[in-house]
Amino acid sequence: MFSLPLGDGARLAALEVWHAEEFAGHLDRARDHIRPWVGPAFVTDDMEGARATLARYAERQAGDGARLYGIWREDALVGGVMFTDFSAAAGSCEIGCWLEPSAQGHGLITRACGALLDWAFTVRGLHRAEWHCRADNHRSTAVAKRLGMTLEGVRREAWPYEGVRYDTQLWAVLADEWRTRGDEASGVALTQ
Ligand SMILES: CC(C)(COP(=O)(O)OP(=O)(O)OC[C@H]1O[C@@H](n2cnc3c(N)ncnc32)[C@H](O)[C@@H]1OP(=O)(O)O)[C@@H](O)C(=O)NCCC(=O)NCCS
Repeated sequence: MFSLPLGDGARLAALEVWHAEEFAGHLDRARDHIRPWVGPAFVTDDMEGARATLARYAERQAGDGARLYGIWREDALVGGVMFTDFSAAAGSCEIGCWLEPSAQGHGLITRACGALLDWAFTVRGLHRAEWHCRADNHRSTAVAKRLGMTLEGVRREAWPYEGVRYDTQLWAVLADEWRTRGDEASGVALTQ
């Protein structure tokens, strides 16, 4: 019902349990593309699994924790962004994202993450936002850079995938850094 325009005919809105069928259909288009890079629990195979993911986020949001948002382009669900962790008490959060292949390359994720960072820092007064990714996920590290994040460290061989352990990177941006940076990722804002 409530959505935020992202430009390019796209919008950002809450992704909720009632979207389960649409989310399952989207995962059919995105599954192979996202599987190496996102947590295995997110890559479900059927409608029941898709619904379980949405229900898990809804429960965590009810406790002021994780939150999930979808990106619709020309009325098709093409990806999304989330607070994979959100702690008002600790003043910190972690942001994640995914897209189906057809939606890559338009800046949708950079703009959507900018909206989440604006909300976390401005509306909720958080101090720090993190970004965790596989070190060889170049599209993901490019988003972190566009968001003005700093590479803070590497967790060596922390990500097991198909029998190989990959390094992961921790990127982060602080509230003051976000406020004083250029406007590349801003331009949209969640106000509530
Ligand atoms: C990570 C992922 C979401 C990044 O998607 P993306 O489309 O590259 O990122 P954005 O939506 O921010 O778009 C950036 C691209 O759009 C271009 N772009 C166009 N207009 C833009 C704008 N106004 N602002 C920023 N970028 C813009 C950029 O130049 C860049 O293009 P490039 O691909 O030629 O470098 C995507 O690759 C994905 O889903 N990967 C698999 C899952 C995954 O890795 N998730 C993250 C786990 S940590």
